[in-house]
Amino acid sequence: MSPNCPSEAISVRFFWSIVTEIFYKIKEIVLFPQKIMYFCRVQSSQKGLVMINIVLFGAPGCGKGTQAQRLKEHYGIDHVSTGEVIRDEIRRGTELGRSMEQYISEGKLAPDEIVIGMIANYVAGHKEAKGCIFDGFPRTTVQAEEFDRILAGHGLKVDIMVDIHVPEEELVKRILLRGKDSGRADDASEEVIRGRLDVYRKQTAVVADYYASQNKYASVDGVGTMDEVFGRIAAVIDGLK
Ligand code: AP5
Ligand code: MG
Repeated sequence: MSPNCPSEAISVRFFWSIVTEIFYKIKEIVLFPQKIMYFCRVQSSQKGLVMINIVLFGAPGCGKGTQAQRLKEHYGIDHVSTGEVIRDEIRRGTELGRSMEQYISEGKLAPDEIVIGMIANYVAGHKEAKGCIFDGFPRTTVQAEEFDRILAGHGLKVDIMVDIHVPEEELVKRILLRGKDSGRADDASEEVIRGRLDVYRKQTAVVADYYASQNKYASVDGVGTMDEVFGRIAAVIDGLK
């Protein structure tokens, strides 16, 4: 048969169509597990099931509490502020609260072991959460190390620390303004506010290095409208997915 014979051309075309068909079938089989995994990931992220633990960090008045509230609503995750937990103990007049009163009113850090115990209880009681914003914790390297151990004990980890940067004079202005009606003892005088900033610089700022060394650190500009700052933080978190 000559190579130009029509029946040979037909069988060559038929042969290549079979080869192509087989190629696509193999590709589908090979890609099937990946497609399943992608589908599961999309489903779980749409339901917000992807677990995410965020350490919201920064000096007093930088906007941790303000942004935590927004992040909590946006991502459907929990929020715990060690400062709030301590203030609640004080309001309720518990023994723990009474032991903490002086630290808070003087703007000093509460003892590591007490705050670590609070967080250990919190984590143990919220294991089913989709994630959590830890606001104002950890504040010392000891707290950060213990925190990793506590989370690891429940098969969890910190995903990211978001450090909100605001210049010191703006921080003082914000806290003095809030202090007019916050009722917080540590907002009452400029002296105590500057003391809190000093404690932050000397004892807390170093915690950023702890997370940076684990490649879990992001810094955002905390100056601008609350919406702008939220957008910057959300961009960091969305970038993790
Ligand atoms: P804590 O309650 O954590 O206080 P803090 O870190 O001093 O921070 P603040 O709550 O004052 O400020 P924030 O960053 O939450 O800012 P906010 O959103 O309120 O801790 C209090 C104390 O508890 C500590 O000093 C210590 O004694 C103890 N403690 C807590 N945790 C501890 C730990 N882990 N270890 C040991 N001790 C611990 O915003 C501030 C103001 O600014 C608000 O009025 C807000 O409306 C305004 N604002 C927010 N964003 C903006 C914006 N973008 N523009 C203008 N204004 C804004
Ligand atoms: Mg706060």
